[in-house]
Amino acid sequence: MSGVFRLLVFCMMALSLALATSVGDGRWQSKVPESDRVRQNPMAAEAGSIAAGAKLFRQHCASCHGSDARGRNRRPDLHSDRVRDATPGQLEWLLRNGSLKNGMPSWSRLPEPQRWQLVTFLKSIP
Ligand code: HEC
Repeated sequence: MSGVFRLLVFCMMALSLALATSVGDGRWQSKVPESDRVRQNPMAAEAGSIAAGAKLFRQHCASCHGSDARGRNRRPDLHSDRVRDATPGQLEWLLRNGSLKNGMPSWSRLPEPQRWQLVTFLKSIP
């Protein structure tokens, strides 16, 4: 009996691991059209853009990604190679479109300059 129980526990652990790795896998990147991928960030050199992006992050994003952007539950850590290596255009595309199936909302209701400020902030994360 305890053998069956151990097998059950093992299966549950394997399942939760599979679920935990099923989001934040970066598959959204393959959906970004080339014309979006190469877009430059018009706010990148604006004074105060990082601070403005940080404020927007606290308002809209910290509830899922954590105030330190370290991620929580199944929401990805944003201090990652993938976020670091993504182009500004890819990140803006993700914010505009979201990754709805995986639980990342669309931020198309924010004015475009604010999305670019968020991108500036994301790019400032070490
Ligand atoms: C309701 C929870 C939620 C909120 C709020 C949220 N996100 Fe996300 N975010 C997610 C999830 C879940 C994913 C994983 C999506 C995927 O991989 O398809 C994600 C993915 C990302 C990614 C890509 C990370 C990677 O490794 O691929 C970035 C960048 C990101 N979010 C930034 C933001 C920003 C900036 C905001 C605020 C404007 C925000 N998120 C708000 C849940 C959220």
